[in-house]
Amino acid sequence: MHQLHPMLTIAVKAARRAGAVISRASRDIDAVTVTAKRQSDFVTEVDKAAEAAAIDVLRKAYPGHAILAEESGASGESEYTWIIDPLDGTTNFIHGFPQYAVSIALRHRGILTQGVIFDPTRNELFTASRGRGAFLNDRRIRVAKRAHMREALIGTGFPFRELGHLEEYVRMFKAVVSATAGVRRAGAAALDLAYVACGRLDGFWEIGLAPWDMAAGCLLILEAGGLVADFDGDEGYLEKGHVVCGAPKIFGQLLPIISAEYKRRA
Ligand code: IPD
Repeated sequence: MHQLHPMLTIAVKAARRAGAVISRASRDIDAVTVTAKRQSDFVTEVDKAAEAAAIDVLRKAYPGHAILAEESGASGESEYTWIIDPLDGTTNFIHGFPQYAVSIALRHRGILTQGVIFDPTRNELFTASRGRGAFLNDRRIRVAKRAHMREALIGTGFPFRELGHLEEYVRMFKAVVSATAGVRRAGAAALDLAYVACGRLDGFWEIGLAPWDMAAGCLLILEAGGLVADFDGDEGYLEKGHVVCGAPKIFGQLLPIISAEYKRRA
């Protein structure tokens, strides 16, 4: 068992608590109440209960820290902010499609320092502390070694809330499908990013993500030796919500494709 950073230990505890709430509810999905936040954007009582469980753990350990959470929003002021998605992949969860996760990250003075993604359906725990590498359960993980786009498997997310991005997205999709071995849309961005970190995917891109969808996953990728950027190739991805990432050689080929199509937008 590798030594976890103390703050990561708390984040793991919070993620497991949220995961327990989700697992319990997944045994009787028909009993779960679903509300539409906006078109194609759902929330369940499970998202809220899982978020409350995670926040309870974090607040007890660090009462002075700020929180930015998908369902309850921003609270507190501190140089430390916990960024929480209690149930990333809510639509999958509602359908009993087993691809969803808890995502928790810590940002200190604007820098991501801790990240946890917990998949309760497979009991897979992805963790990373800045400067200390990334892990899947107890095993150190690294991004894939593949160097050629022709062999690469790329993850993505379809724009479904901001349909204004659909046109440019379809152009990106066409270009990536033509250049690679395949494209997958599994429906939980946090897990897609964790899969890039452990080499199951060679790269990933999505338009219009929220910080809680990607904060932990981006740190995992960086700590696993991968690269992450916005569509201009800069570091503003958490704020802009547009992210492209991958193992270094694949990232180097994916970014120009995505960014060329993005620049062509009307
Ligand atoms: C969503 C998932 C999905 C992505 C969306 C996210 P949620 O998270 O990560 O894969 O395409 O952009 O909002 O809303 O289910 O937590």
